[in-house]
Amino acid sequence: MPTDLYRDHLDTLLQRAETALQRAGYDHLLIPSGGLHLQAFDDLPYPFVVNPQFKAWLPLTDAPGCWLLITPGQRPRLLFLQPQDYWHAVPELPAGGWVEHWAISVLRTPEEAARHLPPDPARCAILGEPQAALGDYAPNNPAPVLQYLDYHRAYKTAYELEQLWQANRIAVRAHRAAERAFRAGASEFGIHLAYCQAAGQDANDLPYGNIVALNRHAAVLHYTARERLPPRPSRSLLIDAGASHAGYAADVTRTYAAEDGDFAALIRAVDAVQQQLCAQVRAGTDYRALHLQAHLLLAGVLREAGVVRISPEAAVAEGVTAAFFPHGLGHGIGLQVHDVAGLAASDAGGTLPRPDGHPWLRLTRPLAPGMVVTIEPGLYFIDLLLDELRAHGAGNAVDWARVEALRPYGGIRIEDDVACTADAPRNLTREAFAAA
Ligand code: GLY
Ligand code: MN
Ligand code: MN
Repeated sequence: MPTDLYRDHLDTLLQRAETALQRAGYDHLLIPSGGLHLQAFDDLPYPFVVNPQFKAWLPLTDAPGCWLLITPGQRPRLLFLQPQDYWHAVPELPAGGWVEHWAISVLRTPEEAARHLPPDPARCAILGEPQAALGDYAPNNPAPVLQYLDYHRAYKTAYELEQLWQANRIAVRAHRAAERAFRAGASEFGIHLAYCQAAGQDANDLPYGNIVALNRHAAVLHYTARERLPPRPSRSLLIDAGASHAGYAADVTRTYAAEDGDFAALIRAVDAVQQQLCAQVRAGTDYRALHLQAHLLLAGVLREAGVVRISPEAAVAEGVTAAFFPHGLGHGIGLQVHDVAGLAASDAGGTLPRPDGHPWLRLTRPLAPGMVVTIEPGLYFIDLLLDELRAHGAGNAVDWARVEALRPYGGIRIEDDVACTADAPRNLTREAFAAA
């Protein structure tokens, strides 16, 4: 990892922490990495998921029971838990260029952390889950601190962009393997395994559960059931699958048709719309306007394909596109697949409302250099929503024979991770496909 990139990243976070603490009237920032959670009535834990506030600072994602101690003007401190344990793998001592920027104390028990924490817990902003409490050092998650840090986390440092690029490279390598498995006739489960093998990641590492949907299953937006046997015929694949790198997520979707034909043409049309939208990931663009434009462009695709008979403007106004494209255009991405503060009006609170009638939009902030967002338009043939459309009297706008012909393919989504810069957008996903 390039050390100067990390040092600049850390400097940025230290500055942000200092301002956040000042605003909220605290002297120290404490961040526990979190702990394991037991499943109900069982002695088995869920997979460990690190506190995102923790992994923002350093690329440690698999170390429960650690703490970060940030005091403005002082070297940041990592309390690293390396228990004496012969039941489980013990986390290795931190290594890598980033380590030299931290004062590191190694703990043998979680309780030892208390000895290193500032004497007065009341002077500490503590960001974490309730279970991370250590005596009087209980997470208080002060709103002004969270609002400030979360808001600014949307603007990625150069170090973060590099991690997102690496995550995209891994995801794209795996997407190519998944496409090969699909064309060889694999089941959803088989395609999933091919993906994991090529990514070198499984459920414990991936940033979200792989969505691998053949045929009709592509009409379920977050389909994760993974049939063990392939359908006959296997007509289409929608795969929405990411990868992690150093705590950062990629979120990538591709849709393939087994054969050329009307559905393949529809994929190409959605892809062209997606590219048109990606090109507008530019400083100053209102993401809400981009989302509304996606509706208009997709309405044009539906009309061109003979699915919808009315003008794009009318299709949007009458809610016809909402039945075919029933989710948001995308979201911020970074340490979390759906990055925090997507609706934040400022670093001191407030909400930028979603446009009326678009309850699923996860990002309403204007785009600015450093933001990384997904652009993921889609078109689906979802019985539930099409039945509603008919019931509400908009049925005449639709050519139902065309719907019937396309319905067996489920749906289409194309999703890239795109960085907003001071100039042209940088499409991390397409870059990775081009480099693969
Ligand atoms: N993979 C979930 C999403 O695209 O938002
Ligand atoms: Mn997404
Ligand atoms: Mn996705």
